[in-house]
Amino acid sequence: MNLEERIAAVEARIKEATATTTEALEAFRVEMLGRNGKVTGLLDELKQVPVEEKRVWGQRLNQLKTAAKQRLDELQDGMAKSSTGPQETGDATRPSLTEASGSLHPISIIRQRIVDVFARIGYTVSQGPEVEDDHHNFGALNFPPDHPARDMQDTFFVEGDAQRNGSGDLALRTHTSSVQVRVMEGGQPPIRTISPGRVYRNEAISARAHCMFHQVEGLYVDKGVSFAELKGTLDHFAKSMFGTDVKIRLRPSYFPFTEPSAEVDMSCTICAGKGCAVCKHSGWVEIMGCGMVDPAVLTNCGIDPGTYSGFAFGMGVERIAQLIYRVPDLRLYWENDVRFLDQFADGAFRG
Ligand code: DAH
Repeated sequence: MNLEERIAAVEARIKEATATTTEALEAFRVEMLGRNGKVTGLLDELKQVPVEEKRVWGQRLNQLKTAAKQRLDELQDGMAKSSTGPQETGDATRPSLTEASGSLHPISIIRQRIVDVFARIGYTVSQGPEVEDDHHNFGALNFPPDHPARDMQDTFFVEGDAQRNGSGDLALRTHTSSVQVRVMEGGQPPIRTISPGRVYRNEAISARAHCMFHQVEGLYVDKGVSFAELKGTLDHFAKSMFGTDVKIRLRPSYFPFTEPSAEVDMSCTICAGKGCAVCKHSGWVEIMGCGMVDPAVLTNCGIDPGTYSGFAFGMGVERIAQLIYRVPDLRLYWENDVRFLDQFADGAFRG
């Protein structure tokens, strides 16, 4: 083959070249422009052509070199754009990157489950402010002015703003019972509502107590609401939350805003009533307080106790969570260590 024929053959090879991987592209570059490449070889031959022909062949070979480079660029562009063609996959044996996915906080999961149980039997969800005035947190709920719950040791008082708030007595709410007052002040029965929220008490932080925690308050006011309905509602709640085997019992107690009042115990789900450290070997664990709304509270909130009666209950979300997840130290809920929180992803953790 003469020089022209060999140039034409390389030209044809350049035109038909394809490459879908970086390896193939590099092989093509080496084949044409590498030290022993076809184009490089032809350029070398230029030395041997007669002087008077050098210019013509020089131009011809430069065109060939340009064509090879252009083809290389085209193939590279095509590879970058192609979304359907085979892609470079890298090392398929490398461990994959795990997507870190967030999850609900365990307290949120339990709060939601509590809310769901009551929402299914017709309760609405209501909320109130966390910075609350004395009237809603204590006064309307029948706490006498000298009641120990108002004590500095329990309540975080907030610098009063006497102009905005009549008395200037502001505090971080110590319970979600304050929302009962707001709901009753805001409308007439029938009222059926639960109020989940954060509450604050001036307690030393330990494995068993924290200065912030969560409660869910329940309130039902209508004509002829009875204590039997309260008991039935709470039994339904305990069984929905913990399983149909659990039993509840009510012990007489005292709260300023309910009369009569009771403490609700549930058969210990950890030892099934046989006795363990969690139930202090009694077979029962306390899960909430409850009672019939004191007629004085109804009156304070603008509801006629001659026509209406109601019941109320209040539970700690951390307490319920502890019985489900068996987390031994309350502080874990607040430290937000992802190694702890990850265990609750996708509801995987069952305790
Ligand atoms: N507010 C009470 C507390 O924080 C809990 C409570 C007890 C709420 C009895 C109620 C109730 O509605 O009837 O300890």
